[in-house]
Amino acid sequence: GLALGGGAVWLYSDAKVSTAGSTSFGNELAVPPLAKSRVKPDGTRVFDLTMQSGHKEFIQGKKTPTWGFNGDYLGPTLRAARGEKVEVKVANRLGEASTVHWHGMHLPAAMDGGPHQMVAPGQTWTPHWTVDQPAASLWYHPHPHGRTEKHVQRGLAGMFLLDDERSAGLALPKTYGVDDLPVIVQDVRFDGAEFDHGHRLMSDTGFLGDRTMVNGTLDPYAEVRDERVRLRLLNASTARVYAFGFSDGREFSLIGTDGGLLEQAVPMERIRLSPGERAEIVVRMEPGEKTVLRSFPPRDLGEGWQKRFNGGDDTFDVLQLRAHRELRPSPQVPDRLGGLELPDASDAVRGRFFGLRTSGINGRKMDMARIDETVTRGETEIWTVRNEHGTPHNFHVHDVQFRVLEVDGERPPAELRGAKDTVFVPGRTTVKLAVRFDGPSDPDVPYMYHCHLLYHEDLGMMGQFVVVDKGQKAGRVHVPDGHQ
Ligand code: C2O
Ligand code: CU
Repeated sequence: GLALGGGAVWLYSDAKVSTAGSTSFGNELAVPPLAKSRVKPDGTRVFDLTMQSGHKEFIQGKKTPTWGFNGDYLGPTLRAARGEKVEVKVANRLGEASTVHWHGMHLPAAMDGGPHQMVAPGQTWTPHWTVDQPAASLWYHPHPHGRTEKHVQRGLAGMFLLDDERSAGLALPKTYGVDDLPVIVQDVRFDGAEFDHGHRLMSDTGFLGDRTMVNGTLDPYAEVRDERVRLRLLNASTARVYAFGFSDGREFSLIGTDGGLLEQAVPMERIRLSPGERAEIVVRMEPGEKTVLRSFPPRDLGEGWQKRFNGGDDTFDVLQLRAHRELRPSPQVPDRLGGLELPDASDAVRGRFFGLRTSGINGRKMDMARIDETVTRGETEIWTVRNEHGTPHNFHVHDVQFRVLEVDGERPPAELRGAKDTVFVPGRTTVKLAVRFDGPSDPDVPYMYHCHLLYHEDLGMMGQFVVVDKGQKAGRVHVPDGHQ
């Protein structure tokens, strides 16, 4: 049955309904620490990230085996400013090879951390690049071909925040961990102390959990001391699509999408995020009140896609916000926010088509030795992405932030008008994107495009593109050891 009473928790597993009532929201939200960094004489900001295994007590008295960066679960929040040179020393202390990909980052292909930049156990990989894109909430996670779902759901994920002069000067909540909170949402399922990562059916969307957690905290609450709080929402789930809103239906301001701030804040009640997508929202609180960030059944998901694995109505209580009796006043959200730096359709010199099926993209499964597409540095293209069957998919492109031009021939909704690197593509839907490749070129090292439902990616719903200079040909991909 469906529990609609006040205070009831809307969590569902296959057969049982959990109504924790007043005992819910018993855990204070963990906020990932800001990663320590040091600055080399040449100005490069250096971070250390170590992939390691451990245990975490999500449920009292139960030690769950986990993976994490610099800790037991998830990773610290990396933070850098536009124009800065960054370097990350990525050490692998796991028993198997993995990679770390900087999702949403514009950077050279050899630094991207895709399946070609494997880090063997005991090894350290040190990518470096110059941050050259607007302020944004990006993230990082492993990307080993065929094993990404497993590596992410064991706990390897973290946020990478970028700042710029413009964002620093805006009157937005920006005190990390106080009025500016990362909200990393994952769905999980437990079998005693262990994670249950099993799939419930074959040829489905992959793993779906029966409850959510935020920043690795089950049943979380966050204390709010300011009138306005900014939530940086990240769907770090492997397959689940969310539609975030508040239990009391209150409006919030959408201020940013995957690749940064919108030109103008948009008042909204729901924001849908498929795996990999981000949204920055600002919500206003009254002194002493409580509200719950909830995920409602997402639109356009296709009849029962998540529900049938979940046994419920697809509603999850995600995070309770508790306002103090006295709140520090915060300024209104400014009218003008970012300056969008998105490609224009009128500059496009060619188009490409991507047909999505769980069995592959354009009828082909990922092959690490094959370059599927060759694009020219500095050029803008129109990418038409069609979901050719009923299974939900999304589409993520490395290195770029694109503009969504159309969804089934219509102008996209406000939430898709900002900078995007991942877009949901419901069953039998077509999206059109304007994509510009700013380089640098490297004919031998590919970037990826793929479905970010990680099970689909692992099955081979992924392709490779190289960026070349005008007139240059694609090179030859070197496939690292341990790959087919
Ligand atoms: Cu978030 Cu290709 O990945
Ligand atoms: Cu998919």
